[in-house]
Amino acid sequence: MNTKPEHLYLDLMKKTLSFMLWDEPGIPIETFIYKRSLKKRILLRTFSRILKLFDLQAVKPVKYTRQQREGGVIWPMNADTMVGLKRLDNIQFCVESALQDNIDGDLIETGVWRGGASIFMRAVLAAHGVVDRRVFVADSFEGLPKPNEDKYPQDRGDKHYKHEFLAVSKEQVEANFAKYGLLDQQVVFLKGWFKDTLPTAPIDKLALMRLDGDTYESTMDALNNLYPKLSKDGFCIVDDYALKRCRQAIDDFRAKFNIKSKLVKIDQVSAFWQKE
Ligand SMILES: C[S@@+](CC[C@H](N)C(=O)[O-])C[C@H]1O[C@@H](n2cnc3c(N)ncnc32)[C@H](O)[C@@H]1O
Repeated sequence: MNTKPEHLYLDLMKKTLSFMLWDEPGIPIETFIYKRSLKKRILLRTFSRILKLFDLQAVKPVKYTRQQREGGVIWPMNADTMVGLKRLDNIQFCVESALQDNIDGDLIETGVWRGGASIFMRAVLAAHGVVDRRVFVADSFEGLPKPNEDKYPQDRGDKHYKHEFLAVSKEQVEANFAKYGLLDQQVVFLKGWFKDTLPTAPIDKLALMRLDGDTYESTMDALNNLYPKLSKDGFCIVDDYALKRCRQAIDDFRAKFNIKSKLVKIDQVSAFWQKE
C-alpha cells in the first residue's frame, strides 16, 4: 500500500467522487420518467405527488453489481462522476506522468456532468502542490445538443439530448468543486456548446484533454479545437470510445491526421493515447 499522504488523499477522493464507499441507493421512480409513455408519466407523477403529501418517496431498488459501478457503466444517483474507478486511476496516471515528465500545459475535460472527473484533476494538482496549471471545465451545463444531421450525419438518431439526467447546472458543478475545497482561480469554466466555446477558449497549451461528450459532433469539435494545442507527449483521453459515434469521430480524426500513437484501452469503454 502506498501510504504517502497525497496518495491516501487521492485514493479517498476517487472512492468518494464515485460513491464507492456506500451502497448505491434506490432510484426515485420519477428520475427517468421522461423516458416513459404519457400515460405512465401521468400515473407516476400523481403517485409521487400523493406520497409527497405524506413526506414519502417511492424508490426502485437498484441491481447494479460492484463491477458495473467500478467500471463506470451505470448512470449513478449520488456519485459526482459516472466514470468509475479505473478511469479515475487513469486520470491520476496521466496527470502525474505529465507533472513528472514536465509535459507543458493545462488540463481540460469536455463534458463534465456533475464535475467529478474534473474535480479529480484539480485534486491531483492540489495533492502535488501545483499552482501554475489550470483545469478547464467545458460543458453546456444543459445536456447535449440536438444532433446537427446536416453537418454530422454520423449523429443521426442519437437520443442523448433527450436525457434530462445529463443536464447539470454550472452552479451545481461549482458547488460540487466547492464542497471538496477545490473551487479556486485554477478552475476555469467554459459554459456553452463546444462549437462556440472551444475555438476562443483562453488556452495556449494542454498537457491533457479528456473528451466525454458522447456524440460524433461533440468529440470532433473537441478534437478540432484542442488537439493542435496538445503538447508533445500530452494525453488525449476518450471516455466514450465504446460508443459508435464517438469512436467514429476518433477513428476519422486519427486517420485524417495520420495519428499512429498507440490507442491504449483503459477499461471496457474508454481509451487514451499520448501525442507523438
Ligand atoms: C456523459 S456526461 C459527462 C460525464 C462526466 N465526465 C463525469 O465525470 O461523470 C456528458 C456531458 O457532456 C456535455 N456535452 C455533450 N456534448 C456537448 C456539447 N456539444 N457542448 C457542450 N456540452 C456538451 C453534457 O452536457 C454532459 O454534461
